[in-house]
Amino acid sequence: MNLHKYVSDAINNKLGFEAKLDVPKNRDFGDFSTNAAMVGAKTAGKNPRELANEYLPLLKELDFVADVSVAGPGFINIKIKDDFILQNTTAPKQMSAEKPLTIDLDYGAYNVAKSLHIGHLRTSIVGDTFNRVAKFLGHKTFSWNHIGDWGKPMGLIIAWIERLHPELPYFQDNFDPKTPVDYEIDEKELNNYYPSASALSKEDAEFQARAQEIKAKFQAGHPGYFALYERFLAISLRTMNNTVKRLNILPFDYDLGERNAAKYLEPVEKILREKNMIFEDDGAQIINVKRDTDNAPIPPYMWRDSRGADTYDSTDLAAVYCRKLTDNPDTIIYFTDLRQSLHFEQLFRAADMSGIYPYDKFEHIGYGTINGKDGKPFKTRDGNAAGLDDIIDIANEAVTARVAESGKKLDEETIKTIALAAVKFNDLIHDVKSDYIFEPSAITSFEGKTGPYILYTAVRLNSILKRANADFSKPYGYTLTTEERNLLIEIMDFERTILSAYENRATDMIANYAYDLCQLINNFYHNCPILRDDIPANIKAGRLYIAKLAFDTLATAIDLMGLKIPREM
Ligand code: ARG
Repeated sequence: MNLHKYVSDAINNKLGFEAKLDVPKNRDFGDFSTNAAMVGAKTAGKNPRELANEYLPLLKELDFVADVSVAGPGFINIKIKDDFILQNTTAPKQMSAEKPLTIDLDYGAYNVAKSLHIGHLRTSIVGDTFNRVAKFLGHKTFSWNHIGDWGKPMGLIIAWIERLHPELPYFQDNFDPKTPVDYEIDEKELNNYYPSASALSKEDAEFQARAQEIKAKFQAGHPGYFALYERFLAISLRTMNNTVKRLNILPFDYDLGERNAAKYLEPVEKILREKNMIFEDDGAQIINVKRDTDNAPIPPYMWRDSRGADTYDSTDLAAVYCRKLTDNPDTIIYFTDLRQSLHFEQLFRAADMSGIYPYDKFEHIGYGTINGKDGKPFKTRDGNAAGLDDIIDIANEAVTARVAESGKKLDEETIKTIALAAVKFNDLIHDVKSDYIFEPSAITSFEGKTGPYILYTAVRLNSILKRANADFSKPYGYTLTTEERNLLIEIMDFERTILSAYENRATDMIANYAYDLCQLINNFYHNCPILRDDIPANIKAGRLYIAKLAFDTLATAIDLMGLKIPREM
């Protein structure tokens, strides 16, 4: 049950108008407090305190009210009956949205033949949690891994391979795709090709021109370049899939990126031309997305660059067109680095002006940077910018060290699960927009606001449940302790928290909820022994019932964050 909603609706019904129901920090005076008398006072022309006193007997009639009292200028505190709490607390279950939406989510968006960088961590973690939450609330979601598999980097990589192996038949214009080619691409090497080629292109104008020429021919369908591309694409897709598994994120509904979008450039261009939206500018073709009301200059959106090639801009607009045809979404949400904000502002305007998709149904959730202690983007020990795998490896090392220190013996799988939880939880508990400092030792601590603490609490509770071998049926005539009462009230706040995390686009609300829940679970654990021999059977049954509800709730929160509960810890 969503207790807050239940109580709020009941009060509004009773009084015949909408009041606000707050949850006080300190529960000593009540579980909730309402401003009903302040609201009512305006129409009644009465003093709020006086009116509050008139409302008290009415509110006392509600089935869940144990006690009501007036506070301050006219707030009403409400204490909920213990038995009502015990009888009505339920474990969370899949919800059905009042207004179910179809939501396209664009996250991950990895690049071909470029190792995943640290920024891809946040888009994956936050995007995936958002996807899980939206589904849990009853929305229909489609996740799009908008792969960078088309533009300039492809030209550079092909040009680089041509430099290394000019003898390969792929570079001949009359290449026959059926030709068997005796050439193995080294997976590790592949990730170096793009950075090497990109660096060279900055110094060597000839190489740069060659890469550009190749890119244009590749996009126009050169059979040899395409065959070579398909080979490194396959390797990259495998790497991406491994990452998806390694990060324990849901498989993408579509692994379709720029190349797929490019198929839709033609119909989109037709629309843009009909609306006279494309202008020539220094050989390039641009869309003007400025508005008179802009305070800052908004550069034009690049439809084709001066060589006539597709761009990140044009494929993104074509991707919107494709998604509209494919899913007809009510909203499209992008998760990328904050630094891409301008690009998305331009895209949303261009889509709106062309009538392809309305501006106000787009959303860009931009996240901050993961920094080291020096406040600069996190680097590995050898001073290189950290990649996504580096971050996970570093967390694995930190957990391994901690576990060794504590004398525990945990298998490798468990250590990986804990390390991943450390990284993901730490990401989710930070406000999406802000940068944060990545401190491997802090985030892997088994205490405090960390992933390991959350998992540890779940593992310990689960082990009690398993040992108890009980049926966890609802107890009657059971008297709650304060710890039990507080825990159950928190469980009944799950739905409201998830709804509000979704509405506020705030994954940190879920992470903080999980932490608060764990604190209450641990208070309960320490003060309300369950399996001790001297505990009477009825108390044991009551506590087991509560422990099971708590576990199911925590497990659901853990799942929404994309973490896994290990068997032991
Ligand atoms: N591939 C891009 C990157 O790695 C992110 C793409 C985001 N999605 C999009 N539709 N532009 O930075």
